[in-house]
Amino acid sequence: DDLDKLEDRPPVLTIMGHVDHGKTTLLDYIRKSKVAASEAGGITQGIGAYTVPVPVDGKLQPCIFLDTPGHEAFGAMRARGARVTDIAIIVVAADDGIRPQTSEAIAHAKSAGVPIVIAINKIDKDGASPERVMQELSSIGLMPEDWGGDIPMVQISALKGENIDDLLETVMLVAELQELKANPHRNAKGTVIEAGLHKSKGPTATFIVQNGTLRRGDVVVCGGAFGKVRALFDDNGKQVNEAGPSIPVQVIGLNNVPIAGDEFEVVGSLDVAREKAEARVESL
Ligand code: GTP
Ligand code: NA
Ligand code: MG
Repeated sequence: DDLDKLEDRPPVLTIMGHVDHGKTTLLDYIRKSKVAASEAGGITQGIGAYTVPVPVDGKLQPCIFLDTPGHEAFGAMRARGARVTDIAIIVVAADDGIRPQTSEAIAHAKSAGVPIVIAINKIDKDGASPERVMQELSSIGLMPEDWGGDIPMVQISALKGENIDDLLETVMLVAELQELKANPHRNAKGTVIEAGLHKSKGPTATFIVQNGTLRRGDVVVCGGAFGKVRALFDDNGKQVNEAGPSIPVQVIGLNNVPIAGDEFEVVGSLDVAREKAEARVESL
């Protein structure tokens, strides 16, 4: 990329942690939505991607939040979330402490080399012990900033909305240090975070654009799938014409359902796309 064409891009923040520690409730508070209450069995089953305005120095800045499931069956999604994210927000319930998927999420963030911010949640509950959680985290090498270490930890209640401002401020400070940039003036590439077959739309894929700008009419190849982008939908299901760096969009127009985790790129023609997709399938 031409260095002079790099522009600031919004941070991608992934919320991870053990099942029921309050990830979706946290995002609901931030988005003023009520997703958690509507989930079957109270369990998140897929990755949700949301663009949310967050106040930074009195101005609203767009941020992209990914919600991930905490159930042990969804380890691949945590891995995917960690791969596309700039910062991992690890939620740990203060009445439960470090559990298997907490450790797994921390391991994914570390192996992806992304900074970790800990949200110690449910501090409103009887039996909550934030100090015990901090103790547990320091014993696995995550030393709280308050204890002289380098891991920011914020004590919150996602349910009551307590200290969420502090958490967002902390996360945005970490994001600022990263000086996140991309070149929007080139063909898009990025990662598929979700994919499926919709009864009327056909194959669908949710992309996180990591560089460039994706536009309607672009020809994309992702894994063994390819096609011309027929329509783009934002996180509200509203049709949009394009999506720049960091922005999640659902795409239709692919010939097949790609595999979540696949990388996608825009290419010059359907012939090139078909060739690349076929080569990709043969190499599997
Ligand atoms: P999965 O996505 O299924 O892993 O769960 P999750 O981490 O998204 O947790 P979720 O938001 O579904 O919350 C689980 C339960 O904890 C719900 O009943 C929430 O109301 C409750 N909960 C979440 N945050 C808090 C909190 O700060 N305080 C209290 N008291 N309850 C909370
Ligand atoms: Na849950
Ligand atoms: Mg959830």
